[in-house]
Amino acid sequence: MSLNEEIARRRTFAIISHPDAGKTTLTEKLLLFGGAIHVAGAVKSNKIKKTATSDWMEIEKQRGISVATSVMGFNYGDYKINILDTPGHQDFAEDTYRTLTAVDSVIIVVDVAKGVERQTRKLMEVCRMRNTPVIIFVNKLDREGRDPFDILDELESELKIKVRPLSWPINIGEKFKGVYNIFEHSLDLFTPDKQRVSERVEIDSVDDPRIDEAVGETDAAKLREDLELIEGVYPDFDVNEYLEGQVAPVFFGSALNTFGVKELLDCFVKIAPAPRPTQSEERLIEPQEEGFSGFVFKIHANMDPNHRSCIAFVKICSGKFERNAPYKHMRTGKTLKFAAPTAFMAQKKNVVDEAYPGDIVGIPDTGNFKIGDTLTSGENLHFKGLPSFSPEMFKYIENADPMKSKQLDKGVQQLMDEGVAQLFTNQFNGRRIIGTVGQLQFEVIQYRLEHEYGAQCRWEPISLYKACWIESDDVEALAAFKKRKFQFMATDREGRDVFLADSNYVLQMAQSDFPKIRFHFTSEF
Ligand code: G4P
Repeated sequence: MSLNEEIARRRTFAIISHPDAGKTTLTEKLLLFGGAIHVAGAVKSNKIKKTATSDWMEIEKQRGISVATSVMGFNYGDYKINILDTPGHQDFAEDTYRTLTAVDSVIIVVDVAKGVERQTRKLMEVCRMRNTPVIIFVNKLDREGRDPFDILDELESELKIKVRPLSWPINIGEKFKGVYNIFEHSLDLFTPDKQRVSERVEIDSVDDPRIDEAVGETDAAKLREDLELIEGVYPDFDVNEYLEGQVAPVFFGSALNTFGVKELLDCFVKIAPAPRPTQSEERLIEPQEEGFSGFVFKIHANMDPNHRSCIAFVKICSGKFERNAPYKHMRTGKTLKFAAPTAFMAQKKNVVDEAYPGDIVGIPDTGNFKIGDTLTSGENLHFKGLPSFSPEMFKYIENADPMKSKQLDKGVQQLMDEGVAQLFTNQFNGRRIIGTVGQLQFEVIQYRLEHEYGAQCRWEPISLYKACWIESDDVEALAAFKKRKFQFMATDREGRDVFLADSNYVLQMAQSDFPKIRFHFTSEF
């Protein structure tokens, strides 16, 4: 197969949801259709259960599971599908943001009873920043939930994206009878069954009397009424609008009952984008280019603390990746060869000889890589840094064992390279501040520093609201701001200026007092 054909058949995406909406279940059902697994229940959730916050063995075990399920590749018909898994626990949201930089599209799972929840809103913001095409799967139709029209309105207003239903449920909860597929004009009847695929009724159009026979006259009439309303309210589905991230097609189903999943998958492979061009600082890189290029979007520490080896996950952006070929590591300028790169098929890792744009290869690493690193077959390229978002929680990190300060420094540096949290250095007093999305990350850092690096750390409180990356075209204004706020100025790991606002009020005052300064809540602007 030619490079172009290999690229055209690839679909690399992530499934995102608020915890418990059904991401793991949906992933598993997709694998079932791809023949990658044969029984339901084979995919372990990489969800770190809420109760496990202080159960370290459990967290370590679950970190192990998430290596196995980090990328799941399988063939479906002529397509090669790569699902990138994202951590379920919101304390690891930063990991999810980065994974979203490595996908070409996204499926969002929403619980029909709960609607749009907080984490989904946040993740959608990241998709919007990059115009990532989004398909929405409204799940758990077998349970009582909201009216589908209300859900559509909520999706639109909460996720700030136009929606277009491509399937429509006939009732919900106990009376749920099936889904009318607007995309293909077919009817699928629901039978609660975890293993079996739904029953399809052949119909010619929405007026076909076979619909009345299948679901009864009342429900058939209601369906026709609903469809008429949909056609009246929502413009026709335009695949280009979807590809530009302007409109999100919506499907309804029940992942647990394998219902509506095949329809979703069949539509997904048809409309979802093949690997898209990637922006580097130098130029736009097309996947079809001959030269290989890729970037590290995730680093996974090994389970064995005695061997500080990791797996770096590289997203291939262009050209063909080959085992043992010399590649340039842009940050260090070194030429590296990879003898044992792994590909992820089904739930197995295998050494691969070659891989194509859209694929992810896992490279065993002993500390060469940092998140965001670029690899190429020679050209000097730098993929745009992966975005950091302002952390939600901050603490000073202090050395609790003066004999081990080297170990602590090294540990902190490597954990930050891995993207576990963000490090800021206060420009005024030189103290180090760790910023995280959740409390669990502080616990993980402390635990890993001790067990992997033999270092002891202590946390000290600091009350901060947000970290803002600042910039200005006016050098004097910037200098004046930094002078005024000197106690609250910090430097991130790339050496950029960051203002640490201790309250929303202070931030708003700063914004109005210094109109020439631009305040950013992400490092990518
Ligand atoms: P997550 O990865 O998004 O966190 O969600 P997950 O798939 O683990 O699903 C969360 C819970 O919702 C699971 O139940 C799962 O069985 C259930 N679920 C998923 N899809 C459906 C659906 O279509 N209908 C119904 N009724 N339930 C669904 P659990 O009891 O938390 O876990 P388990 O013990 O069943 O694994």
